[in-house]
Amino acid sequence: MNGAAGEALLEAHEIRRSYGRGTARFDALKGVSLRIGVGESVAIVGKSGSGKSTLMHLLALLDHPDGGSLTVDGGDAAKLGTRELNRLRNKDFGFVFQQFFLTPNATVLDNVVLPLKIAGVGRRERKARGMAVLTQLELSDKARNKAVTLSGGQKQRVVIARALVNNPRVIFADEPTGNLDSATGRLVEDILFSLNKVHGITLVVVTHDSELAARCDRQLFLRDGREVPAPELAGAAA
Ligand SMILES: Nc1ncnc2c1ncn2[C@@H]1O[C@H](COP(=O)(O)OP(=O)(O)OP(=O)(O)O)[C@@H](O)[C@H]1O
Ligand SMILES: [Mg+2]
Repeated sequence: MNGAAGEALLEAHEIRRSYGRGTARFDALKGVSLRIGVGESVAIVGKSGSGKSTLMHLLALLDHPDGGSLTVDGGDAAKLGTRELNRLRNKDFGFVFQQFFLTPNATVLDNVVLPLKIAGVGRRERKARGMAVLTQLELSDKARNKAVTLSGGQKQRVVIARALVNNPRVIFADEPTGNLDSATGRLVEDILFSLNKVHGITLVVVTHDSELAARCDRQLFLRDGREVPAPELAGAAA
């Protein structure tokens, strides 16, 4: 994966995704198009059930669209082989998803270096890179603690550390601050935006927090699986 700032990193054209079959079929995404440039920060905003996570999973190549097309660095994502897909997901993409839990009884360091282990990086280098990223997130003193013993904000920083350890080009974050109090949430946000501004990592964030969305370069608003114009935010959310 290459690309200079502003070049299209991901492009979705009329992508669709349905769940279930027959009468139980539910169209979660009904044709959404967007372009995410290298180095951009993009928020995907909408109410619960509007299709945000569905869209995020498609963009992150964790799921396949039922219709429409998706390109990564200008190449058709549908044509990527398993090996290339796995490499993209493990090396170029970092995930900050609430459902990607930490292993509670493994140490913080072991949790963080998991993507390196998958990539076949040796033990010594895993440790060095894991400690470097934990230091960056001010968690090096917790490296030997079991993940279960950390506070909510610390756990979320460990998830970010794990997303960063492979030097990804894109971070996909699904409600990264959803379970945090506002001060801790702000800290986690600041970390994500500094990665974007300072290191040029492309940021795709799903949120229903309008303040977090406003910090992004661009917002995509979803309602019932479709893009809608920006809503009137002040008081007219219904
Ligand atoms: N595996 C599935 N099987 C059936 N329906 C699903 C499945 N996953 C999602 N859906 C449905 O698709 C719609 C969109 O779900 P999605 O998870 O994308 O919403 P969301 O915008 O991320 O919501 P939230 O803010 O609550 O996380 C919802 O109505 C949901 O019930
Ligand atoms: Mg969701």
